[in-house]
Amino acid sequence: MEEVIRRLAARTEENRAQFRGGFAAFAARHDLSDWEGWFSPYDDIHALVLQNIEKCDIVLDLGAGDLRLALRLAERARRVYAVEVNPVVLGTALNEIGFDLPRNLHVVCANALDVAIPPGVTVAVLLMRHCQHFGEYFGRLQAAGCQRLITNARWKSGVEVIDLTRPRVPFEQVQEGWYACQCGAVGYVGQGERSESPPIEVSGCPACQKL
Ligand SMILES: C[S@@+](CC[C@H](N)C(=O)[O-])C[C@H]1O[C@@H](n2cnc3c(N)ncnc32)[C@H](O)[C@@H]1O
Repeated sequence: MEEVIRRLAARTEENRAQFRGGFAAFAARHDLSDWEGWFSPYDDIHALVLQNIEKCDIVLDLGAGDLRLALRLAERARRVYAVEVNPVVLGTALNEIGFDLPRNLHVVCANALDVAIPPGVTVAVLLMRHCQHFGEYFGRLQAAGCQRLITNARWKSGVEVIDLTRPRVPFEQVQEGWYACQCGAVGYVGQGERSESPPIEVSGCPACQKL
């Protein structure tokens, strides 16, 4: 599989389909704004994602790009569903993978927001720094019984593993500290006295009120 992934990586530049004619209309049709629909692989954080996957996991990779992470996830997990909206990125990738496509990797070319969460998904991966729909993904995954969400969508430069089963603190109860909300917003409340402490998982933050 490493050889297939190496070939995919070699085609990264030609696969940046956001620079092709017609992309703007495609993005508008799918409500992808502010770079949300741009393909750019996060090779530097894929190892961290893989470390958080168990053999028994059923993984949903949202915005799977050229499937290079999904292929590695499929080597580790029980089953992987990979959803990618961009048919040009995905088409090139599938052509490159050919008959090496693993049986436990199920690939869907569609807008992930239009696709039902497959049954039994235990962990979702959302590597999409410019994600504009975090709250919607969060709510749908939680409702489907998914337990963890591995993402860089909230803190942008950092990856986090969110426990979707953990109760959330109502925002108004936070007196001091970093917070991270289910809508995707993050911020700090107070004077900086708890700036070293981990963020508090909240609901109903000021950004939610504006949605
Ligand atoms: C920054 S790239 C990251 C690709 C891959 N996750 C990785 O880490 O290599 C984000 C990908 O998400 C896809 N994407 C964005 N919005 C999507 C949506 N609503 N449904 C499916 N794919 C989406 C984009 O087309 C793009 O390929």
